[in-house]
This record gives sequence, structure tokens and C-alpha cells, in this order.
Amino acid sequence: MELDRVIKERRSIRKFLDKPVEREKINACLEAARLAPSACNSQPWHYIVIDDPQLKADFCQEAFGGVYKMSAWVEKAPVIVAVVSDRGNFTSRIGNFFRSTEFFLVDQGISGEHFVLRAHDLGLGTCWIGWLDSKKAGKFFNLPSGKKIEHLFAVGYPAENPAPRPRAKLEEIVSYNKF
Ligand SMILES: Cc1cc2nc3c(=O)[nH]c(=O)nc-3n(C[C@H](O)[C@H](O)[C@H](O)COP(=O)(O)O)c2cc1C
Repeated sequence: MELDRVIKERRSIRKFLDKPVEREKINACLEAARLAPSACNSQPWHYIVIDDPQLKADFCQEAFGGVYKMSAWVEKAPVIVAVVSDRGNFTSRIGNFFRSTEFFLVDQGISGEHFVLRAHDLGLGTCWIGWLDSKKAGKFFNLPSGKKIEHLFAVGYPAENPAPRPRAKLEEIVSYNKF
């Protein structure tokens, strides 16, 4: 599909067909994520693909309890991809320190968007999920200290076709040669 069309057509999908997603397609999305640029080329990410139904149910029990219950619908997605963050390599961390920023989160955003755009290109629907219990989700996979599940993707064949959500107009978010 043409890139412009993929960007314009992608939507957050929260209802999925009860149809398994081929691992080849998931791998193609992961390959797109892998190719993303990152500060100092630190590639501060690891993707855990959860496509075993029982494991998915057990994971969701942990990740979406209490105040995170509103994300419980994610269990209905045939596949969940959890993004484990790494705080970046040494040079990137020095950059964080001097810039007072978290480059690894920027990097994960870029990589994640590669993932969801490629998914749309392949006819899959996705939704970024930031509303989860990262502590319990990390414990579920015995993550070592310093690693954290920052966000997830719900992935599957779409069972809805939502209208575009509003966006600010270009003139509201852009200025040339001044702020
Ligand atoms: C970092 C991030 C976290 C998000 N977390 C959630 C979430 O926890 N639950 C949810 O339903 N949608 C979540 N979304 C989806 C946004 O609500 C959605 O992208 C936004 O409303 C625009 O709609 P669109 O993606 O259909 O264009 C998240 C999106 C991003 C980029």
C-alpha cells in the first residue's frame, strides 16, 4: 500500500475478528519495528509476542487489574505485543543526562509506529496500550531490574472501521521561522 494511504487510513482498533493472525505477518511488523532509527543506534527495545490464548489470559489478569481494568478488552485481541524497554546504551544515557530527556522512549515511539503502520499495510488492526500495570506485567515475565513493559499493542484483524479522530489543523501546530 502507498505510504500516504497507510498513514491516513490507520486507526486505533479495539474490536477484532475471532481469527488467528499469521506469525509471518507479526514477524513482518516486527521487522519494520527493528529497522527504526534510535538515538546512538541503541535500539532500546525487546518485543514479547503473546499469542498463546491461556498465557494471554493469564497476562491480562495481571496487567489489567484494579484501575487498569478499562484495558481488559485487550484480552480479546488475538495477539498482544508487549514492548520491553531498555534504558538505552551508554552514549544514549549520557545524552539523556545532558539533555534531561529519555531518548529511549522517543526511540520506542518511532519503532512502535513502524510496527503499527506495517500492520495496517498488511490488513491488521492495532491499538497502542499505555494503560497497564507495568509492575505486574513485568513480574509476569520475570523481567530483570531496569527493564519495564512501557506499552503494548493489541493486534488482530479489525472488526470495526472507526471514523478518524480529530487532529489539530496544520496551521495550529506549525510555524515557520518563529514560535
Ligand atoms: C502511547 C499511546 C498510548 C495509548 N494508550 C491507549 C490505551 O491505553 N488505551 C486505548 O484504548 N488507546 C490508547 N491509545 C490510542 C489513542 O487513544 C489513539 O491513538 C488516539 O485517540 C487517536 O486515535 P487513532 O489512533 O484512531 O488515530 C494510545 C496511543 C498512544 C500513541
